[in-house]
Amino acid sequence: MKGVILAGGLGTRLSPLTRVTNKHLLPVYNKPMIYYPIECLVTAGIEEIMIVTGGNDAGDFLRLLGNGHEFGLQDLHYTYQEGEGGIADALRLAEHFADGDKIVIVLGDNIIENNIRGAVAEFSRQPGGARILLKAVPDPERFGVAEIKDRRIVAIEEKPSAPKSELAVIGIYMYDHQVFDIIRTLEPSGRGELEITDVNNAYIEQGKMSYDVLDGWWTDAGTFPSLDHAWRLVAEGGANKTDEPAASQPLVQQGLS
Ligand code: G1P
Repeated sequence: MKGVILAGGLGTRLSPLTRVTNKHLLPVYNKPMIYYPIECLVTAGIEEIMIVTGGNDAGDFLRLLGNGHEFGLQDLHYTYQEGEGGIADALRLAEHFADGDKIVIVLGDNIIENNIRGAVAEFSRQPGGARILLKAVPDPERFGVAEIKDRRIVAIEEKPSAPKSELAVIGIYMYDHQVFDIIRTLEPSGRGELEITDVNNAYIEQGKMSYDVLDGWWTDAGTFPSLDHAWRLVAEGGANKTDEPAASQPLVQQGLS
């Protein structure tokens, strides 16, 4: 399985911090934000990783990360997103890199306390399709939200004003190679982006979506309150922990039948 980190975008919600640098290069406690998604993939055993970025500061990723030796990687792959077309548009650029393999995508501003080893192992056993991770949050209206019936996801709504559950879809997604065909069918949403939620709903409609409920904390870091929250969580206990407490098994798993 290969990993893709999406680290483009304008980061407007963090302006003026993002006026002269990319959001994912900003510090979260003692490391640049982009370190956390890289560690997340590496601790899940993924060794081939591509970073998708864009804008004026793309060269800084190379200066910061080089070939990823600091993370135990042999090399890192990079690609450049021209313009701002949304998460699914950025993912499109990884088709050549994926080369038919299954992929794990991590949004560059998502940080987790523990690790995704269990979910990645389940996905590698899964015949194909997609797998996502859910987490109960107090403010689901900020995210994609899963509607669940009989333990199955029946739909995901992007930033709903009346969320049908408290389960946010976190920014870690696992897909088979069909994802690129799905992206080619998408139309831009109201905010002018190709939405990852539309990709996930396409898999749900085909009956090819499974999920885990994430153990441990999860946060994004793309707004001032969430960046502050992420900083505190990391400072208090660290992220991407690899020790496996007894409770680290996903609380709920839905596999493909
Ligand atoms: C994106 C996705 C959303 C997901 C979130 C996780 O939101 O569209 O479904 O829950 O990432 O961080 P955005 O950061 O683009 O607002």
